[in-house]
Amino acid sequence: MSQSSSSRPARLRRSVLSVPAINRRALEKLASLDCDAVIFDLEDSVSPEKKAEARENLRAFFASSPLSAKERIIRINALSSNFGAEDLALVVELEPDAVLLPKVDEPQDVMLVSDRLAEADAPENLRIWAMIETPRGILNAASIAEAGRTSGSRLDCFVVGLNDLRKETGVLPQPGRAYLVPWLMQVVLAVSAYGLEAIDSVFNDFKDMDALDAECAQGITMGFSGKMLIHPSQIEAANRHFGPDEAAVAEAEAIISAFAEPGAADLNVVNLGGRMMERLHLVQAKRLVHKARLITQRHRPSTSSG
Ligand code: COA
Ligand code: MG
Repeated sequence: MSQSSSSRPARLRRSVLSVPAINRRALEKLASLDCDAVIFDLEDSVSPEKKAEARENLRAFFASSPLSAKERIIRINALSSNFGAEDLALVVELEPDAVLLPKVDEPQDVMLVSDRLAEADAPENLRIWAMIETPRGILNAASIAEAGRTSGSRLDCFVVGLNDLRKETGVLPQPGRAYLVPWLMQVVLAVSAYGLEAIDSVFNDFKDMDALDAECAQGITMGFSGKMLIHPSQIEAANRHFGPDEAAVAEAEAIISAFAEPGAADLNVVNLGGRMMERLHLVQAKRLVHKARLITQRHRPSTSSG
């Protein structure tokens, strides 16, 4: 049976900030930042000589700062590298919300980690996220998504990595990401088919807010749930673009009201100001209103600190 993304609980993944685990100063900043999720990176942003120190930083950080209102994801090195096994052991020890696997090429990459987590008795709610950032990862996105759903069901989310993909393919950075759009949409299609979510790639130029705005607007239009970020200055734009705006929330509430009318109980379509609304729009509307509520809760002073 198909797993539609609309059947999953709505959660906030508008802004997913990557932090090099080696950078203690940046780690200390996290509690005060308004991102929905944090990726603690042990991979590309940490040099081989510093991997052990980066793991120690995470141990200390998880012991002192629970960051309970944010989703916490640890990005590990490939299991085939010298660092992957120790990274995964750390994940089992710290029990973040998810482990993010770099350069996932094929379903086996996810299944291997799924098996290792099961062997280590990791809790079921410790999920797997996958970086889709290689040519094979893009080609196999659908089979990775499908296999991840069936093998222990830990796979939860794809994150697109365009820096690696550009390096591997020779596609140059361009406004509008013209030649990359078909590949990005292939990832969105794959997650939609199997009830997962996709996070759009980082935008490197963290001083160029206009270009970031444009890329966030493009990302939400393409169907991504949020954006991976590299700098705190990017959080506001991602939250704004990937969160529903007031007009969208008002429309969603109008759809919910229309279907709640006594006469609509046995109707599958209603007329909302001259537009046809089906029950599928009601499902979408409820998700959107739920997301808006999560955002309101997050911004209440008592729950905003980490
Ligand atoms: N998370 C949390 N805090 C961050 C941060 C991040 N990703 N990036 C920067 N900061 C903090 C800095 O520590 C600095 O704090 P301070 O004012 O207390 O000193 C403040 O934000 C301003 O930073 P700035 O001086 O503008 O940038 P920088 O030179 O310190 O760092 C980067 C620039 C790109 C090196 C840094 O943002 C970074 O490492 N980003 C993440 C890279 C990454 O994760 N790559 C892998 C995935 S692609
Ligand atoms: Mg990468």
